[in-house]
Amino acid sequence: PGPLLADALGRPLRDLRISVTDRCNFRCGYCMPKQVFDKHHQFLPHAELLSFEEITRLARVFVSLGVEKLRITGGEPTLRRGLDELIRMLAALRKPDGTPLDLTLTTNGSTLAKKAAGLRAAGLQRLTVSLDGLDDAVFQRMNDVGFPVADVLDGIAAAQAAGLGPIKVNMVVQRGVNDHQILPMARYFREHHGGAVVLRFIEYMDVGATNGWRMDQVLPSAEVQRRIAAEFPLTPLSPSAAGETAERWAYADGRGEVGFISSVTQAFCGDCNRARLSTEGRLYTCLFATRGTDLRHLLRSPDALADDQLAGAIAGLWGQRRDRYSQLRGQGQAPSGERRVEMHYIGG
Ligand code: GTP
Ligand code: 5AD
Ligand code: SF4
Ligand code: SF4
Repeated sequence: PGPLLADALGRPLRDLRISVTDRCNFRCGYCMPKQVFDKHHQFLPHAELLSFEEITRLARVFVSLGVEKLRITGGEPTLRRGLDELIRMLAALRKPDGTPLDLTLTTNGSTLAKKAAGLRAAGLQRLTVSLDGLDDAVFQRMNDVGFPVADVLDGIAAAQAAGLGPIKVNMVVQRGVNDHQILPMARYFREHHGGAVVLRFIEYMDVGATNGWRMDQVLPSAEVQRRIAAEFPLTPLSPSAAGETAERWAYADGRGEVGFISSVTQAFCGDCNRARLSTEGRLYTCLFATRGTDLRHLLRSPDALADDQLAGAIAGLWGQRRDRYSQLRGQGQAPSGERRVEMHYIGG
């Protein structure tokens, strides 16, 4: 094996997040506010999307450069037609040492009751479901399309029954909007699924340019943790992987664990090993990037490259990477000016 690929700040490339559609059936205010993403919004036309063959080829090249984890995202990835086939193709990839990759998916859960078994059969191992509350009125207001919470809970149950696991549930916390759902969510996932579902609380972030983010809407993880620990004592767990986004805590009574993703109050750029591939094949080296690099034209004639040339081009881009947006924001030095990429386009 050659020398380990590292970016300009010494960080390896380990995690590739692949967005397979910019569409979503929800309109969460912090991601795709309805006023902006209305019936006039132009989503990408089909010809612009990477094909499954193109995605798989790029994934194979990224794996040759050190990627060990593939996360399929969106928009809502399960809306991409034929997704099972893509999962099958990606599940067949192997790391250079011959072992399988960590293959996972982030979904809003709305289609899981129908689709979980097929995803599992196609080779998906585990998944993460986004869920921002248990109270139906609160949840419907947050997804802003009136989608009932019971259907997402059914979807999580279907995923578990299909053998997908470990399942993670992500809750974005917005002060004054759903912070009163923190304890009901903690209680629910302690009591259901035998404590096997890992609930993680995400600080509301200033991604994109349309959600009107304000610092006073962020409830710091330290406060979330304090509220939970007051009812359910917690003990710290050590990280399960380098560069992990979540800080992990176990319930002292053994009923599972929770995580805190604190991108605002405790930036984790220092060992960020994540690259993101947009639906039309642009590479973004940070969630807060303002621009990406078009890789698609390197796959299509007349600019088509061979695999080793493609690997060289991507290694060159990674080698120049200096992104550390959350850290800079924390120091009051967040770059402003250029419009940041939207999360539904680039994936979580
Ligand atoms: P696993 O632990 O392997 O399941 O994955 P993960 O920790 O990468 O978790 P996941 O993909 O579920 O990410 C959880 C959330 O953390 C995302 O939806 C984002 O909100 C946030 N997040 C993930 N990666 C980054 C990142 O690189 N930077 C920032 N600022 N936030 C991130
Ligand atoms: N801040 C924090 N998390 C966000 N997500 C989307 N937008 C934001 C934001 N502004 C989360 C979703 C989902 C994942 C894909 O990213 O809730 O869990
Ligand atoms: Fe859709 Fe997820 Fe964005 Fe909500 S956060 S609008 S479910 S992509
Ligand atoms: Fe990585 Fe950018 Fe997130 Fe920092 S802000 S952890 S560099 S994606």
